[in-house]
Amino acid sequence: MLKTKKLTGKLLLQGGKAYLPEKNAIEKRDLLIEDGLLTGMEKSIEASEDMEVIDCSSKIITPGFTDIHVHFREPGQEYKETLKSGSEAAIAGGFTTVCCMPNTDPAIDAQESVRFIRQRQEELLVDIYPVAAATKHREGKELTEYGEIAAAGAVGFTDDGSPIADSGVMRKVLEYAKIVDKPVLQHAEDPGLKANGLMHESKVSTALGLPGTPGISETAMVYRDIQIAEYVGARLHFQHVSTAGAVQLIREAKERGVKVSGEATPHHLMLTDEAVRTFDTSTKVNPPLRSRKDVDAVRKGVADGTLDVIATDHAPHALQEKEQTFDLAPPGMIGLESALGVVIKALVASKIANLETVLERLIVNPRRLMQLPENYYTFKDTANLTIIDPKEEWVFKREHVKSRSQNSPFYGSQLLGRVKGVLNRLEIADFGL
Ligand code: DOR
Repeated sequence: MLKTKKLTGKLLLQGGKAYLPEKNAIEKRDLLIEDGLLTGMEKSIEASEDMEVIDCSSKIITPGFTDIHVHFREPGQEYKETLKSGSEAAIAGGFTTVCCMPNTDPAIDAQESVRFIRQRQEELLVDIYPVAAATKHREGKELTEYGEIAAAGAVGFTDDGSPIADSGVMRKVLEYAKIVDKPVLQHAEDPGLKANGLMHESKVSTALGLPGTPGISETAMVYRDIQIAEYVGARLHFQHVSTAGAVQLIREAKERGVKVSGEATPHHLMLTDEAVRTFDTSTKVNPPLRSRKDVDAVRKGVADGTLDVIATDHAPHALQEKEQTFDLAPPGMIGLESALGVVIKALVASKIANLETVLERLIVNPRRLMQLPENYYTFKDTANLTIIDPKEEWVFKREHVKSRSQNSPFYGSQLLGRVKGVLNRLEIADFGL
């Protein structure tokens, strides 16, 4: 359980720096919060006796992070995660807004389930926006009711967990999404090429005797989808991009003005197929952990803006499911709590991107892509802030996990950059401020 405290009285976040989205810069700022509302933001604010002061030297204050790709498993699989437990995991990772995926049971494919999530999230600590199923029951055949579903509060359409495999259906999905002005989020894995693959097809899969999924299963579908999106003139976002080929195709499509975007997960930025040698079923994910060359290309894609967004694909599964053999365990790993530490280590420590770039991909670009309000640091508005120490080295442990599930391959890993506190919805979570 996550412990939070109600924000009452005056709180001064003093001596730190703040990430400023409009400049994509980090500059010295003090912030004053009164009864949970932001009332001051200056280079320096003097403390008075009626203020509680948090020393933020060595820390950076940012707007709360936004993760456009989480699986909160409600309705139907509450033993893995609920909207509440998922929200707590989000806060632990510095995320105050998330977009949840529709591969629940039943799928989020109608206005009622979209409304249910929008209503339920009002009682929780994070803002949750559902991305609705692109096709009924996520079967890839018949489209859902785009107008009704968008009006109920869905921010996009996807069959995530599965691709929209049929090209004709994909064309219709893009046409209808364009009419309601929402993005389509595609899980690009060609089912025929993926076949029964359990990991990336490589020397490692051969050595381990596990059937492989070749990189072209993603790259081929990205190629096809770019053609369709360009033809239709619709907005298409590629989830969890994992291959060098896909990164290059997205780069070229953007250069010629196609409305495509892409996301990278922390795990595809950090781990290669070598991680599967442990047979830890947490390393089983769709799309799979790829080669060094692919990881380097995904990193470069985030650095140069080809991949606009960092999103976790937080995919909780219960212990008894992940304790099965590699072939039977469901794919997915949790990712919210470790995201910042993994990403700073993968991109900033290795000098591939600077911290501002990482923060832009965690804060600004996700909101722009999903057309969420871009109201950063609004005076008299509820303070929605994440406080990080980008230089703190720490070892990721089970005790850091607030999710109902535990399936992470990062336990025992030394990470760089830590979330120290989060303010949202008039509450503060303190992780060592
Ligand atoms: O590894 C994955 N797990 N990839 C997905 O696309 C779906 C996710 C899940 O829902 O568990």
